[in-house]
Amino acid sequence: MSKLLVGNQKMNMTSSDVNEFLRAVMGKLNENVILCPSSIYIPYYINKGFKVGLQNVFYEPKGSYTGEVSPLQAKSLGLDYVIIGHSERRTTLREKESDIQKKVNMALRYDMSVILCIGETLEERSLNKTDFVLRKQIYSALVGSINIKKLYIAYEPLWAIGSGKVASVEEIERISLFIKDTVKKYKDDAVKVLYGGSVDSNSIASIIGINSIDGVLVGKASCNAEEVLKMKEVVENQ
Ligand code: PGA
Repeated sequence: MSKLLVGNQKMNMTSSDVNEFLRAVMGKLNENVILCPSSIYIPYYINKGFKVGLQNVFYEPKGSYTGEVSPLQAKSLGLDYVIIGHSERRTTLREKESDIQKKVNMALRYDMSVILCIGETLEERSLNKTDFVLRKQIYSALVGSINIKKLYIAYEPLWAIGSGKVASVEEIERISLFIKDTVKKYKDDAVKVLYGGSVDSNSIASIIGINSIDGVLVGKASCNAEEVLKMKEVVENQ
């Protein structure tokens, strides 16, 4: 299976930025590139034939939940991918582990491909708590989820997000294997692992070349059309 390039464009683009970006990448991406724009722009992307994912999702299919978007709504628009538990949502938006668990559970139930983000802080890392923190995040997020065939786990160390610092190839390899092993023991099934944190056209080749890595989750560089095209090339030729 080909490796994935997932772009998390966060809340970075205006409508004219989006139009410019889409013009530049039009007809040049493939189905292994999934772009996750702000949800107000999703129709722009879909109408032009891009593969799109959500940056977040709610844990109820329908109802009076002002401002939220559900897995049922996403599926009705043909969307498959959703990012859940990004560190910015865990910290700035104060999303709790119990919310993340409900979101993962509901999105998988609606047959979405879930990209669950996990990662340790710099302090946890310096205290040698990385494995403990990751295991805890995995265990709590997957309570009650039975079918994890469409689950991806994105390892995103918090100190690497938006910092220009990328985890080393050895670290990424060790941790991706640790995540796979942890999920296998917990759910008796295989999981695919992505890496995220300051990935760009310079760093992508060594990361995507790691056997146990199934793709990358890119923030900042995914808002830049030229970067996206270069990264797509690397993933394609991998
Ligand atoms: P970055 O963000 O690539 O800008 O570090 C990654 C992410 O937050 O998913």
